[in-house]
Amino acid sequence: MSEIFRASTTAPVNIAVIKYWGKRDAKLNLPTNSSLSVTLSQNDLRTHTTASCSSSYPAEDSLLLNGKLQDVSGARTQACFRELRALRKEVEAKDSNAPKLADLPLKVVSENNFPTAAGLASSAAGFAALVRAIANLYELPADPTELSRIARQGSGSACRSLFGGYVGWEQGSAADGSDSKAFEVAPASHWSNMRAVILVVSAAKKDVSSTSGMQTTVATSSLFASRASETVPRRMKEMQDAIKNKDFETFGKVTMMDSNSFHATCLDTYPPIFYLNDVSRAAIKMVEQINNTAGKIIAAYTFDAGPNAVIYYLEENEKHVAGVFKTLLADKDGWSGERGAAIEGNYEAA
Ligand code: PMV
Repeated sequence: MSEIFRASTTAPVNIAVIKYWGKRDAKLNLPTNSSLSVTLSQNDLRTHTTASCSSSYPAEDSLLLNGKLQDVSGARTQACFRELRALRKEVEAKDSNAPKLADLPLKVVSENNFPTAAGLASSAAGFAALVRAIANLYELPADPTELSRIARQGSGSACRSLFGGYVGWEQGSAADGSDSKAFEVAPASHWSNMRAVILVVSAAKKDVSSTSGMQTTVATSSLFASRASETVPRRMKEMQDAIKNKDFETFGKVTMMDSNSFHATCLDTYPPIFYLNDVSRAAIKMVEQINNTAGKIIAAYTFDAGPNAVIYYLEENEKHVAGVFKTLLADKDGWSGERGAAIEGNYEAA
């Protein structure tokens, strides 16, 4: 019986507060702007992945996601496999005792504990876990910055899931993408009372994928250019300062304005892309009401490429934010049962 080599890991979902939207190089997943996110705690939304390799496996690499066989022939997955194998080959070249794993077929088995492709950043956690699981299997140095460069090629936002806490993704300028990597803005422990509630408006697969949506936006939206060249660079700085100073009012305001700006460029795309729906807009109104009642910003909404709302707040405002959503929305049409489940995100210090 040939030996099976195996390693497992988990990677959490990250939710951007400054959104990545637009590619300057679609093949390498190089963005037109930097972005910034908060990584959820491992106890919440996450992908668990086991990577293994063996000479006893069928010759083709395989990937099983939530029990379903996935197509691994796509350029994204292939790029991750290729880069990781190249790094393993370097290990094998340096150490003649290292088992020859790079040429063995890979089997990757992933499980998400949340709806896949519903604008809940499933590809981010998925590629981050895939890259780290194979890196562990190959016993590669686990430098998250270096792994982020590889995960980025699977799904752009995946590069940010290799760090916990508050994470930036520097767009970089090199044509080969060598400087387009994630960096830590602050660890989760720096601002550990940050919380989020996620309102799952729809668990259905989104109808415009982020890749095709981004490309149409870049090609047709006139709002897009000023967002990428002026608005986002300014907000990246404001957001990093807000996080350093634990200034929730600025964090919340910039988060909401950036979500609005991203969805405005989607609407300005031709043909237009609608990710938000009536329930999403009701959530926005609800957050406004909560903030008006409090007399300051204590809750901040943000939406990715789907209708689900992520609402950030500080633990001390739990009752006024998550509590209000739960009680008010539980008996409202569109928020109960299948269409409206609330999942609480908890950003406990890792
Ligand atoms: O990484 P992708 O290709 O799934 O794109 C993600 C885009 C957004 O989720 C909308 C924004 C972001 O920065 O995560």
